[in-house]
Amino acid sequence: MDRPPRIAVLGSINMDLVVRCGRLPRPGETSIAESHVEICGGKGANQAVAAARAGGDVTMIGRVGDDAFADRLRANLISEGIHCEWVQTTSGSASGLATVWVEQSGQNSILVVPGANAKLSVADVRAAKSVIESCDILLLQLEVPLVTVTAAIDVARRAGVRIILDPAPAPIECPTKLLDVDLICPNESEAAAISGIAMDTNDELNRAVRELHRRGASHVAITLGERGTLLSDGETSQFVDAVPAKAVDTTAAGDAFAGAIAVHWAENNRLLDAVQFANAAGAWAVSRKGAQPGMGTRIEIEKTRDSIAKNGE
Ligand code: RIB
Repeated sequence: MDRPPRIAVLGSINMDLVVRCGRLPRPGETSIAESHVEICGGKGANQAVAAARAGGDVTMIGRVGDDAFADRLRANLISEGIHCEWVQTTSGSASGLATVWVEQSGQNSILVVPGANAKLSVADVRAAKSVIESCDILLLQLEVPLVTVTAAIDVARRAGVRIILDPAPAPIECPTKLLDVDLICPNESEAAAISGIAMDTNDELNRAVRELHRRGASHVAITLGERGTLLSDGETSQFVDAVPAKAVDTTAAGDAFAGAIAVHWAENNRLLDAVQFANAAGAWAVSRKGAQPGMGTRIEIEKTRDSIAKNGE
C-alpha cells in the first residue's frame, strides 16, 4: 500500500477522571487516593489515537455533548491528526465520562456514564456512509448503541470493507449480526462472556474460539495478557507471544492493540505480523500512564516489538 491505511473508527469519546490509589476500596470502604487527573479517553477515541500514532489515516465517527469537556475532547483528536468531521455535537447532553481507578499494581476499574455516546444513531451511520465505504478497515467497540454498531457493520459489509470488532465492554445480549466481522479481538473475559464458555483450560479456550467463528467471525484474536494472543483463522490457531512489560497502568491496553492491529493488517494483509505488532503496542501502553497519552508511536511500537526478537536471539 503506497499511502497510509484509511481507518474509520466508530465509537465512544469520553473524558476519563483518573484517580490513582494504593489499592481499590472495597464495597462500603472509604479510603484516601494519591492523585486525580482528567485525561481524554473512551474506547473509540483511544483506538483512533492508537491507529493514528501507528501510522493510520484515521476518521472518527462519534458524538460529544455540549458541555465543557466537548471542545477539549474534539481538539485533542484533531491534535492527533484525526479527521473529526463526523464527530457530531448532541445538544443538551453531557459528553461521555469515565471514572477510572488505577491502583499501584497497574490494575484498573472503570465506570462509564455514556452521555452523548448513547445518542450515536443509525442516522449518524447513514450520514457517514461514504467514509465507511471508502476506508480500508472499519474499527468498532461497544460503548455506543449496538443497533448503531450493527448498522455500521451492514454498510461496511455491503461495500466489502474489512471490519474489526473489539467487543468491549462485553454485551449482555449479542445480536447475531454483531459477530459478522473479519476479526474479533476480545480479551479473555469478553470472549468467555460472549461465547458462554468459561476459559479455564486450553480446551475451553479452543471451544470458545470455535464458538466465535461459528457465530460469524472469520478471524479470532483473544488477548490473554502475559500469555500473549491466541490467533485463529478457523482452520489453524496459534499462540503469539506477549511482549514483556512492567505494568504501570493497564487502562486502554486493549484499545492500543485494536488500533495497532487495524493499521498493520490494512498495510500488509498478514494477520500474524499484525498481531505481533499489536502485542507490542499493548505492552507499550501498559507501561505508560493514561489511556491516550500511553499510546505508542509507530517507531516506539516497532522498537518494542523488535526488542523481544533481539532478546530471543
Ligand atoms: O478502554 C479504556 C477506556 O474505557 C477508558 O479510556 C474509558 O473512557 C473507558 O471507555
